[in-house]
Amino acid sequence: MAAEARIAALEELRGLILACSKCSHLVGSRHSVVFGVGDPSARILFVGEAPGADEDLQGEPFVGKAGELLTKIITAMGLSRDSVFIANILKCRPDTPGQTSGNRKPRPDEMATCLPWLERQIDLIQPRVLVALGATAVEGLLGKGLAGITQLRGSWQEHRGIPVMPTYHPAYLLRNQALSEKRKVWEDMLQVLDRAGYPISAKQRGFFLNRE
Ligand code: URA
Repeated sequence: MAAEARIAALEELRGLILACSKCSHLVGSRHSVVFGVGDPSARILFVGEAPGADEDLQGEPFVGKAGELLTKIITAMGLSRDSVFIANILKCRPDTPGQTSGNRKPRPDEMATCLPWLERQIDLIQPRVLVALGATAVEGLLGKGLAGITQLRGSWQEHRGIPVMPTYHPAYLLRNQALSEKRKVWEDMLQVLDRAGYPISAKQRGFFLNRE
């Protein structure tokens, strides 16, 4: 698809998604529908779980603490938030009735309802690679019943013909500061860069060498 037609189609899709009312309980609780952000022709599409409180307020995915870390990872890859695409399995923040803070995992029915929107985004963007950030993104893109994220990360999977790299969610890296875990995600990202056709510098390859 030509770049201009793709931009127009994605804008049309944005209008549909922002007006979505399929999950009536979320329509009542959300501040925004978080469509996604980035290059409509991105080679790499990062898929997260669902908007948190910050994302719900700002209408943009991954703008909170986990988002800051994701942005750092993307920058270390030699890319920017504008040159990739970032979206979530769920476009609305899962509601937390009776709670004033915290997040909850999307439910299977919410994921099944929302997934067709992400699939339409994928169909239009046609990325070379999908990155599934954490277990919920893996479940959304690859289905339930696979091995856990610890076993799956680092090994290529497929979603409707597009390579999927499962990796840890940045929020996990914030909870577990061990260098060994950061290093695993970085190794996954080197595979992603390679598969997406980006060059990898010696500095990028050696990022974690000679560190404990
Ligand atoms: N975590 C996610 O999975 N997605 C966001 O947009 C923000 C935090």
